[in-house]
Order: sequence, then structure tokens, then C-alpha cells
Amino acid sequence: MDIFGSLPYFSESSVDNILKDIRLVLTSGRLIDGPYVQEFERKFAEYNHVKYAVAVSCCTAALEISLRHFGLNGREVIVPTNTFIATPNSVIFAGGKPVFAEMNADTLSIDVDDFKRKVTSKTAGVIVVHIAGLVCPQINELKQFCDEKGLFLLEDCAHAHGAMMDGRKAGTFGDSGCFSFYPTKVMTSCEGGMLITNNEQLAEEARCRRSYGQNVEKRAVMLGNNWVLNEMEAAVGKHQLENLEVFLNKRNEVASWYESALANVEGITLFKTPENFRHSYYKYPVKLADRLDRVKLGYLLKEKFGVEPGHVYYPPCHLHPFYMETFGTKEGDFPVAEQVLKQVLCLPLHYGVTKENVEYILDALVSCIEELSL
Ligand SMILES: Cc1ncc(COP(=O)(O)O)c(C=O)c1O
Repeated sequence: MDIFGSLPYFSESSVDNILKDIRLVLTSGRLIDGPYVQEFERKFAEYNHVKYAVAVSCCTAALEISLRHFGLNGREVIVPTNTFIATPNSVIFAGGKPVFAEMNADTLSIDVDDFKRKVTSKTAGVIVVHIAGLVCPQINELKQFCDEKGLFLLEDCAHAHGAMMDGRKAGTFGDSGCFSFYPTKVMTSCEGGMLITNNEQLAEEARCRRSYGQNVEKRAVMLGNNWVLNEMEAAVGKHQLENLEVFLNKRNEVASWYESALANVEGITLFKTPENFRHSYYKYPVKLADRLDRVKLGYLLKEKFGVEPGHVYYPPCHLHPFYMETFGTKEGDFPVAEQVLKQVLCLPLHYGVTKENVEYILDALVSCIEELSL
């Protein structure tokens, strides 16, 4: 049996509806800048209760556009070291310098105290990442601090479609929320991204920047790129959005199966989701005991049982060769991230995971842990 770590889901009726829409796109000849992008944007804004949603080619573009809005000019942007490299990369693309902050061991998100320590006169703002789909529980504290210091707060919501804290959606706490629709994500448009905001100027700028910086009169008024989401991608995204609540319910159900199955497995500690949160469960991370080697365990799971493991994230950004060579970051800079992430393993989580799969994964895990403990 092969159980993939992540897998996009399209029901039969969804495939039929998408194919109908793609036929309409192709026969209309309007492959970009048409009604599907507009509808997807309108529905995504409505879903998140924000004024504006601007569709772009990927989350990294949404991040760069948001950063460019604040005009970095070499200033620093604080990013958690525990994120995908796209987050700090976007700061460099936008002309700033990424400065890493430590991770909170309980949430895998940014350590807010370390973030505060890293703020200097050169800091322009911060990007918070809702790791695995849990809204950073200190987001209100972060926002208040940023407001007091005149810093921007961007939310990297690549994992957090529909995730909520106190009934409020991820991406609506800061200046903008940046989503990814990459195939592994909670919902997909094949490739794609979305920027949501209540800031009219930022939304207008985003529309301009995604089209090489051209305004509606086709004059280049700022620096931009080709960051367009095409009509076929928007059609796919629109249908996925219609199913997002169903996807989220299923992901939460799978997580609850894992929670009961793994409650008493020696060597595994579960992460807690506070009461007032809705997790999007992009990933299901668990923490392994120090005596267990995550890489070996992952290898055994895959090779012996066909269970594909994942991680969020190893290595942390500051230990990627590019960042070490360019910014001089090194082993020992962020001891919490370095130590904890070595022990964090993600179990398969997507719409297609069944209760039987979870039971099988439990048996596989117990067997691999026993083998490693010999
Ligand atoms: C936390 C995080 N930020 C940004 C990205 C980049 O997303 P995209 O590939 O849509 O640019 C990803 C994608 O995996 C991610 O996980």
C-alpha cells in the first residue's frame, strides 16, 4: 500500500465541472485577464471577509508584491527560521534583508520574544507564517507590537486556507495575507497564489505589479513582473474553493483519528490545538523522542510500509547553504528550531486518507519505532 504525504482531491463532479469551464475558456480565446480570475478573486475575498483579493501566479509573488508596497530599500524584514525558503527569498527579491527569528517549540511558529529582540531601527516589518495550518497564537500580540513600532505585518498563509483563530480567518490579521495554491496545499489551482487585504492601495498596486507594473492604460508605473494567474488555473481554483470547507472538515477528521490513534504511542508527542482555533491541517506534525532518528524512521516508513513522511521544515532556513554563505548564518544560531525540527515528522494528511489508512500508519509507526529501539 502506498500512502502519499499529500494529494490534491477532485471529486468526479468537480472534474466534470472544471472540464466544462476549461472548454469555455479555450473556446472563448480569453486565456488570461477574464471572468474566471475575477470570480475566483471575488469569492476568495468573500470567503475571507476582506475587501480585496488579487490572484497571482504563486504565494511568493504575493509576498514580494506586499513587501514592495512597503518599499524596503535595503531595510530588514524579520522572518521565522522555520519556514519554506520562499518566505525569506521574497524579502531578497523585494530589495530587503531577511533577518531570522527563533521558533516557538510548542507552535512551530515564530518566537515572538525573539522577534521583538531582533527589531532595530533598520527593521521594516515581519512576516509571520502559520505553520502547518495553525494560526500563530500570538498574532494579536505581534500585531499590537507592530502597530506601536510602525512595522508592517504580513501573513504567509501558504498552509492556512480557512484556518481561524477566534472565528477570524488567517490572512486578515496583518497588512496582507498571502496564499499558495501549489498542488500539495489545502486547495490548489495547479500553480497559483492570492493576496488578500483591506488596503485599497496595496490591492491596486498588486494588480499593476502582476502585469509588469502596468496600469490600466498599459503604462509601466512601477516595477512588476509576469505574475498572472491564468483563466484555466482560476477555474480550477474556483471549484476547489467551493469545496474548501469540505476539505477542511475532512482534514480535521483525519487529524482527530491520528490524535486518538497516537495518544499512547511511546516516543511520539502530539502538538496541541487550542480550543478557539480551527486548524487547516495542511500537515500533521508529531514530535519524536530524542532517541529516535527522524530520517531513519521516515526511510523505514516509506521503504517498508509505503507511507510517505514529510517535515515542516528541515533544515530551518538559516541552515540552507545559500543563507549560510550569503548572510553568515550558522549552526547554533537558533537552538530551539535546530533541536526541535530534527525531531518533527509529518504524517500523511490529505482528503483521501481513510480511517483504515490511519490504523495502518499507526501499526507501521509502532513497528518502525520498535525496530529503531532495538
Ligand atoms: C510557508 C510557505 N511559504 C511560501 C510558499 C511558496 O508558495 P508558492 O510556491 O505558491 O510560491 C510555500 C510553498 O510551499 C510555503 O510552504
